[in-house]
Amino acid sequence: MKIQVVVGSTRPARATLGVARWVAEQVGLQVPQAQVELVDLADYPMPFFNEPASPQFNPSRQPEPVVKAWLDKVAQADAYVLVTPEYNRSFPAVLKNALDFLDSQFAEKPVALVAHGSTGGAHAVVHLRSALAGVQAITMPVATYIVGMGGNLFARDGTPKADVQGIAKALARNVQSLVRFAVVQKQAD
Ligand SMILES: Cc1cc2nc3c(=O)[nH]c(=O)nc-3n(C[C@H](O)[C@H](O)[C@H](O)COP(=O)(O)O)c2cc1C
Repeated sequence: MKIQVVVGSTRPARATLGVARWVAEQVGLQVPQAQVELVDLADYPMPFFNEPASPQFNPSRQPEPVVKAWLDKVAQADAYVLVTPEYNRSFPAVLKNALDFLDSQFAEKPVALVAHGSTGGAHAVVHLRSALAGVQAITMPVATYIVGMGGNLFARDGTPKADVQGIAKALARNVQSLVRFAVVQKQAD
């Protein structure tokens, strides 16, 4: 099973990278049989969505190289963990843009959500659930809400700076759902 942990923000000083690194490590410990890969949106500097038609209804689309690289990368996974901060009561535009480029890559695949922010990224999660329905992904019923700024809790390399046992427990439940859904989907294939 391949699980990708997506870093949902790209600004140079972002805290989400540290959060996502810790999340990827936790997923690896919890699901040792899985291949866990960190996918950083900063490695895919895509333009704002600029295609002539909706990707899901454009079988002859010819995405430009950086977009194709993003699509090819995420197509490899069976399941995803999206790690996102909250920006102005939603999730970052760069993540929305990356989702807008998808055609079938996330379709009927499970996605776990991990958010951080002063209200635990709750608004980001609500908006992500909605956007992910648009690309036919299956979002896990319980998200992981990290109350506070991720940068206060995790160093850039993913090392916790505080007691994160409660977050680890919530994440474990989320990942357990993710694996269950991924197994069912793989059996159905
Ligand atoms: C443009 C912007 C808007 C923000 N809006 C919110 C918000 O609505 N709610 C919240 O809890 N935090 C908000 N924050 C705080 C971020 O969630 C927090 O700084 C987080 O670390 C940003 O993630 P990043 O470091 O990966 O960019 C905002 C930060 C930025 C930069």
